[in-house]
Amino acid sequence: MTHLHITSWVVAIILFIVAVLLTKNKNEKPAKIVSMILRLFYLFIIGSGIQLYFLVDPSSGYHIKALLGVLVIVFMELVLAGIKRGKSTTIYWILWFVILAATIYMGFTLPL
Ligand code: HEM
Repeated sequence: MTHLHITSWVVAIILFIVAVLLTKNKNEKPAKIVSMILRLFYLFIIGSGIQLYFLVDPSSGYHIKALLGVLVIVFMELVLAGIKRGKSTTIYWILWFVILAATIYMGFTLPL
């Protein structure tokens, strides 16, 4: 399950960057397709995350880890939506990056 989880978010980050570049370059059709595939990977991340969540002892930092994981996904969507509308996305990028780093750090330091 951890393998699926890690593979899913690594692929999702790559797809996210590709979707950002395509959206910025106004390649609307490919951008839409990549965004749809990206959303499919959100489901893999959340699905494998939930399974891990039920595997572990619910006492420790897993609630926060899971919440941060969901927020990473939320900010990817906010960045993409912002670019599409031509709004500034700096704050979303910063929050995305900080929360992503915190999520990966927590994931690897939590005892699983
Ligand atoms: C893009 C978002 C996410 C990233 C980057 C991420 C990252 C990670 C990493 C690095 C691990 C450690 C894997 C290991 O120990 O081998 C992990 C484990 C875990 N993740 Fe995620 N995750 C994300 C989303 C989620 C979501 C949405 C949930 C819950 C619904 C979740 C729940 C968990 C749980 C319960 C674990 C097991 C904790 C442990 O390592 O002991 N994650 N995640």
